Order: sequence, then structure tokens, then C-alpha cells
Amino acid sequence: MTSATDVPQHVAVVMDGNGRWATQRYLPRIAGHRQGVEVLKRMVRACAERDIATLTVFAFSSENWRRPADEVLGLMDILMMALSREVTQMQRDGVQIRFVGSREALSEKIKTGLEKAEALTASNSKIVLNVCFNYGGRWDIANAARQLVALNKEVTEDNLSQTLALAHCPDPDLVIRTGGEKRLSNFLLWQAAYSELYFSELLWPDFDEAALDAALAEYAARERRFGKTSQQLAADAGVAVQN
Ligand code: FPP
Repeated sequence: MTSATDVPQHVAVVMDGNGRWATQRYLPRIAGHRQGVEVLKRMVRACAERDIATLTVFAFSSENWRRPADEVLGLMDILMMALSREVTQMQRDGVQIRFVGSREALSEKIKTGLEKAEALTASNSKIVLNVCFNYGGRWDIANAARQLVALNKEVTEDNLSQTLALAHCPDPDLVIRTGGEKRLSNFLLWQAAYSELYFSELLWPDFDEAALDAALAEYAARERRFGKTSQQLAADAGVAVQN
């Protein structure tokens, strides 16, 4: 039996497999990323319908600059296109969009686009969509530590947590990675410390509502212990267990 507490409040996704999806169809890799945006739009709606409060996606990593220049430029174009086409709809759907990552290397046009989209959707509350763009977990931790040092604050776990790029939301309960690889690839290294990990063989452009529901069902069946024993958890919940 599932209950409301079995629904993760925060789901994070490594949307992997766009390139392979396109290559399988003899299309340029960028066509896979375009299809990836369509799936992302569907998943934002699907998560909102399932009362998931926060969806965080890895759209461009600090390491993705190493890709061929045309693919990097293509991803920047897709971002600009998505900003101009989708933000009004997101506004209607109650999506609060936030961009997480370093803005230093981004063009002025993109930076302005990100700021506008964030400002326009800031008061929406149906779902928070964190788009990690030019993001890396190591960058996030080092950046937060640098900020604390600059403010002459002690580098403690609490202070770091409150300074990291996702300080505005709870840690992800569930991290999904599509595309068959089983690694975090520098995504949410700090925040995923106690997340349940779920790996799907589907390429991101093939991911759909049924695949999301399969991930949510597996999440609901897992026992999250946060370092405790099963017996302690049962005692916390007031349930008697037999050894
Ligand atoms: C990984 O697939 C995917 C990315 C590096 C980009 C993900 C981006 C999107 C889904 C589009 C959404 C983007 C924005 C800007 C909102 P891959 O290219 O590594 O695939 P492969 O492993 O098959 O090569």
C-alpha cells in the first residue's frame, strides 16, 4: 500500500541518452536534445500532477563545454528557444523555474533570459523546476565554501547546506538517471547523500509517464533508513517488529 509520504517531494533527473536516441535514428545529436526538451515538458506536468513539489534536472554540466562546439552552441540555442517559447506556458501551469549553476561563462543574452524567466515565474507554487545549467556538484560545494570563507563564516555542514545552489529546497528523495549508465556524473554530490537512486535503461527521449510511475513505485517500496536500523525506524513509527 502506498501513502502520501511514499511520494517523493523532490525528484532529480540525469536526462541521459539524447545523443544515442538521435544517432539510432540517423539524426544529428542535437535532434535528441530537442526531443529531450519535449519529454522534459511532459515530465514537469506529470510530476506536478503527482504532487511532487520539486523537479531538478541536469541540462548542461560544467564538463559539457568539452563537447564539440556545434553541440554546445546547439544546447545554448535550445535553452534560448525553450525560454522564449515555454515560459508563458510555465507561468500558466504554476511552474517556478530556477536556474542552478555558474553563470560566469554564459553570454549576456542567456543570462538576461534566465533572469527574466526566473523573475516572471518567481511567485508560482505548483512545482519548482530547477534546471541545472553549467552546473557541477564539485563546483557547487567549492563555491559555497568560498562564499562562507569570504563572509568569515565557519565551514560547517549546516552552513554549507544553506549556501549551496539548491538551498531553497529539501534534498532530493529520488535521483533518476536514464540511459543505462550507473553513475552520478558530478550531479548533486552533496544533496544526494541519502537519495534513493534509480537507473532506467530507457534513453531520455523515450522516458514517459509509465517509466516515471515505475520509478515512483520502486521508490515507495524502498526503506529509507538515513543511517538507522529497520528496528529503530519501526520504533520511531510506533510499529512492533519481530526479529
Ligand atoms: C545527456 O545526453 C543530455 C545532455 C547533456 C543534455 C540534456 C538536455 C536536455 C534534455 C534538453 C533540456 C535542455 C534545456 C536547456 C532546458 P547525452 O547527449 O550525453 O546522450 P548520450 O549519452 O546518448 O550521448
